[in-house]
Amino acid sequence: MAERFTFINQGKGGETHQRADGDTPVMTTPQGAPVADNQNSLKGGTRGPTLLEDHVLREKIFKFDHERIPERVVHARGMGAKGYFENYGDLSDITCADLFQRAGEQTEVFVRFSTVAGNKGSADLARDVRGFATKLYTREGNWDLVGNNIPVFFIQDAMKFPDLVHAAKQEPDRGFPQAQTAHDNFWDFATLSPESVHMLMWTMSDRAIPRSFRFMEGFGVHSFRFVNSRGESKFVKFHWKPLQGLQSVVWNEALKINGADPDFHRRDLWDAIQSGDYPEWELGVQVFDDEFADQFEFDILDATKIIPEEQVPVRPIGKMVLNRVVDNFFAETEQVAFCTQNIVRGIDHSNDPLLQGRNFSYLDTQLKRLGSPNFTNIPVNAPRCPVHHLLQDGHMTMKNPTGRVNYEPNSWEPEAAGPRESPETAFQSHPTPVEGVKERVRSELFADHYSQARQFYISQTDIEKRHIKNAFVFELSKVERLDIRERMVSHLLNVDDDLARDVGKGLGLKEMPEAAEAAMTPRTDLPE
Ligand code: HEM
Repeated sequence: MAERFTFINQGKGGETHQRADGDTPVMTTPQGAPVADNQNSLKGGTRGPTLLEDHVLREKIFKFDHERIPERVVHARGMGAKGYFENYGDLSDITCADLFQRAGEQTEVFVRFSTVAGNKGSADLARDVRGFATKLYTREGNWDLVGNNIPVFFIQDAMKFPDLVHAAKQEPDRGFPQAQTAHDNFWDFATLSPESVHMLMWTMSDRAIPRSFRFMEGFGVHSFRFVNSRGESKFVKFHWKPLQGLQSVVWNEALKINGADPDFHRRDLWDAIQSGDYPEWELGVQVFDDEFADQFEFDILDATKIIPEEQVPVRPIGKMVLNRVVDNFFAETEQVAFCTQNIVRGIDHSNDPLLQGRNFSYLDTQLKRLGSPNFTNIPVNAPRCPVHHLLQDGHMTMKNPTGRVNYEPNSWEPEAAGPRESPETAFQSHPTPVEGVKERVRSELFADHYSQARQFYISQTDIEKRHIKNAFVFELSKVERLDIRERMVSHLLNVDDDLARDVGKGLGLKEMPEAAEAAMTPRTDLPE
């Protein structure tokens, strides 16, 4: 410490000046010109006005004025980390995705964990879904697996997403509550959208208050497709299983932690990695064919449903290790841009109407959030494989095509011609038949909103069931409108009588409502 004070000088006004001494770099303006004095603005006279001419001051303040970018419209609060994915074996029988071809091969990853509803400055231990977004920098382009820690979602169709998020975030007239489920608008929307009941069971469970990001699962949620080099395809659902185990806190702990350390989860991840205790997850897949999809009780395109692991076991295919913290939070964690659209050869989308909407949303919002269509040049977003295209210009251009040719086809010599198509090695959409009437509609196979909610509830231990009941009572007791509370209980009657009765009692309902009208699965009734 002693040397650090050797290069301090006092200025005329008693201010501290620290001089570059050979060990520390020379401070410059963004234009690279050395700065003489970082404490005083340029004045006309010792006690006179600051001069407009002071370009050093103006540039410093200008840069500061523009430090903030819009926070993510959802998942604003998060924590990033870096590491690798290690592939267990050759999966070429089901997918030609390059990263799954060779046992032991490592692929660099960037992961961002997040809460969903809270603003950037909210607390970590909110009762909320957690984002689990992974960017895998494969040799054939970036693959983003943009998942959550809960395997289902609130809604079935992207059309409802803006309303869901408006209802879940702060109420527009008062600007509070900051987030979360404990308010009228959220429960009003959710109870008028019974497709959310399954996800509500998960969010009222201990899953929504994880002990740490290190102790939670991740799910791709939607059905995707694997495609092999022969062009054969199966459906796939992705799962991250934490090798640390699965742990949650209880609600009282969550409340206390939020007060004592709102950064609890973010700090936990940072501290674990810094101390060499690297968190690990196994990537697992549920792979199933069209025949299974056609006879499964629910629609595999419905993001409010799971495929039970008893029916299609999860096959572990690799392991992810997070062993590096970020070098800079803003440059990496803030500027990372995940997108469900970023897929690679061997992986394809399904027709899940929620996924289809997401594919549009991420790129669109990131143009606004990051301010330039060139955000793929930001190191955290840049592919690690060669990139050659003829796209150019726009704000913040860093890598334009070089040479004379910026169009294709062209007839220039190969060394000047620029990049060419490569169907053999490129991503190709799996050819699936599409037919039907163009209309705004939802499949009737999406209509059963309660059977899997019930299955989830009855799979819980007695203590877990008690936590779910208590969570419903706690959250709903913050709802001012009694009819909204009753509406939720009317849905719970379709899930489990005991659950509905205890929640009704906890809320002090004078009499129980009728059960909500319920459609059952049109395929088969599930076993009790
Ligand atoms: C972030 C849209 C459903 C997981 C976001 C963002 C948007 C968005 C606009 C902010 C992205 C950014 O600023 O970079 C949507 C839409 C959905 C939807 C329109 C439905 C139609 C889902 C679902 C999941 C999910 C079902 C989970 C499977 C995430 C995650 C992030 C995110 C993890 C944070 C990414 C990060 O850490 O940067 N979503 N989302 N979203 N979304 Fe979604």
